[in-house]
Amino acid sequence: MCGIFGYIGPRTNGLELVVDGLKKLEYRGYDSWGVAADRGGELFVEKHVGKISGIDTKIFKNTSASLVIGHTRWATHGGVTDINAHPHFSGDKTVAVVQNGIIENYKEIRDELGREYFISQTDTEVIPQLIARYRKTMNFQEAVLAALRRLKGRYAIVAINVGTHQLIAARCGCPLIVGIGQDEHFVASDIPAFLEYTQEVMYLDDNEMVIIDGEASDERPLDQARGRRVTSSKRRETSRPSSGQARDEKEKFVTDHSSLHFLNIETSQPIQKRLVNIDWKAESAEKGEYDHYMLKEIMEQKATILRAIDQSDEDILKIAQTIRESRGCFFSGCGTAGKVCMAGEYFFSIIAQRHVNYAPASEFPVYHHFLRPESLLVVISQSGETADVLEAMEAAKKKKARVLSIVNVAGSTIARQSDTSLLINAGPEKAVASTKAATSQMTLLLLIAYAMTERLQEGRRLLAEVASKINDMLNPRFLVYIKEIAQLIREHNNLYIIGKAENYPMALESAIKIQEVSYIHAEGFAAGELKHGPIALVSHGTPCIAFVANDEVREDVLSNTMELKARGAYIIGVSPERHDVFDEWIHVPDVGVASPLVNIIPIQLLAYYLSVLRGLDPDMPRNLAKSVTVK
Ligand code: AGP
Repeated sequence: MCGIFGYIGPRTNGLELVVDGLKKLEYRGYDSWGVAADRGGELFVEKHVGKISGIDTKIFKNTSASLVIGHTRWATHGGVTDINAHPHFSGDKTVAVVQNGIIENYKEIRDELGREYFISQTDTEVIPQLIARYRKTMNFQEAVLAALRRLKGRYAIVAINVGTHQLIAARCGCPLIVGIGQDEHFVASDIPAFLEYTQEVMYLDDNEMVIIDGEASDERPLDQARGRRVTSSKRRETSRPSSGQARDEKEKFVTDHSSLHFLNIETSQPIQKRLVNIDWKAESAEKGEYDHYMLKEIMEQKATILRAIDQSDEDILKIAQTIRESRGCFFSGCGTAGKVCMAGEYFFSIIAQRHVNYAPASEFPVYHHFLRPESLLVVISQSGETADVLEAMEAAKKKKARVLSIVNVAGSTIARQSDTSLLINAGPEKAVASTKAATSQMTLLLLIAYAMTERLQEGRRLLAEVASKINDMLNPRFLVYIKEIAQLIREHNNLYIIGKAENYPMALESAIKIQEVSYIHAEGFAAGELKHGPIALVSHGTPCIAFVANDEVREDVLSNTMELKARGAYIIGVSPERHDVFDEWIHVPDVGVASPLVNIIPIQLLAYYLSVLRGLDPDMPRNLAKSVTVK
């Protein structure tokens, strides 16, 4: 969480550039935003509560700066105030820092430095203060290194020093990527921040820092054609075979780059980094004709299922073989991705009669007793950056178990740190609520489950049929009907969802969707569990959603739905068939074991319309962030 972005180079519109880039990182947090710049040897700082998307970049039109850092915040330590917004700076205003993550020992450092020097309640402020203290006897690089060695926690930082016009970035557990432009450099939590300027990147790994030297003044000649000042830099590259993890990246091995220096934080040893070419298209992340990203991404499911199954038979069969050979296979993820893992547990049981264990990633490390070198951990993550998932992977690696990841973001930390990684190819998912990523993830788990029993082509046929039926389902009349249901229930404070077997995880996932964007108290239950307690919550008119698939548990779920109805519940049935017990019937196609894929879509839409009808912003719900990089 939190997006950080830094620029150093010849452009003089660095503030505008950084603000624009931060807007593309807003999904990482939107409590407040801020920028700091070196303006002719003086520190310029501007920071405010609120979303950066509402800021007109032109406010910085007349403020020239070519060394700038910026931040969009998801608050952890200290309330949402202007003062707690990043960047934070040293008392002498020579050093400014932005941070993503948590500094666990900040209290101890603050006490040591003297509380009276601190103006914010954040953990981050200790970093510039520490650097400034070391700076009294050291150069900037040594001072940052000394400060970093004092910090405990998972974080990424970018620091600037106005005296030497330098930028230093460091990574210890949170993502940071260096963009290599022509005579200029970018450092960001995620690539879209600078994608319009360069597609060449170097990934910082944990415990690494990069020092980027700039020109000490802006008195260099201006290249009129490009609106940039002229500098020189050199780099030598040699080709290197691709890692095979992120198929749209080409790698080169960089042996020298005159203004970039990578170091290991613990040993101070220089590091060679690979130069990776990112073959992404910036435009695919726009909202287009839709009011919100969430709706756009729901509608994209007409195409994303097909993109998910566009994998080579060889890759899928190899993964199936790895799972088959493992002794103890765990599926793990967080939030929606966790519910997908749970659905995967059912898919593997129903299709492949293979037992896999699901554990939420935040709980997974406590399973370490069951891990051995023959174990396999399959992690699922849209962003590929979720801290709890990374920790689960660390737990598995400690026991020498293999890690397979299914992610949406190529080059993400989870993809790079796993033994094998598969991309779901859903395209950028910007809304905080995960929709198209979830159905693509389930698609791949289904496909792998079929591949486990030599029925890969049967799985492909089923999923192609699902894709075509979803295309038919997402028609304007369907959307109008779901909006009408949202209108009927929008004033309710409580809502319950039931499902059984592979649709039990969908009941849980429906609850997440409705909670996060509409703020209605929604809860999902295994249909048979209601009578053991939760049914006491149901009273006259309580809206309840029931997933009634055409499967072996249909009669059980119908009985449980009747029990709800008998207590006065208003029943919204999601089913291929109309049943008398339904007050509203959401008609979904009959796709057999793939029913979770079609069942979740109307509920994604329902959550979206509930949010809009309640006057909320479905793309950026309160208290949340798209990428959860803290524990
Ligand atoms: C989904 O709607 C949620 N916003 C959230 O639960 C999300 O799925 C979770 O944080 C995991 O994210 P990841 O897929 O990027 O790892």
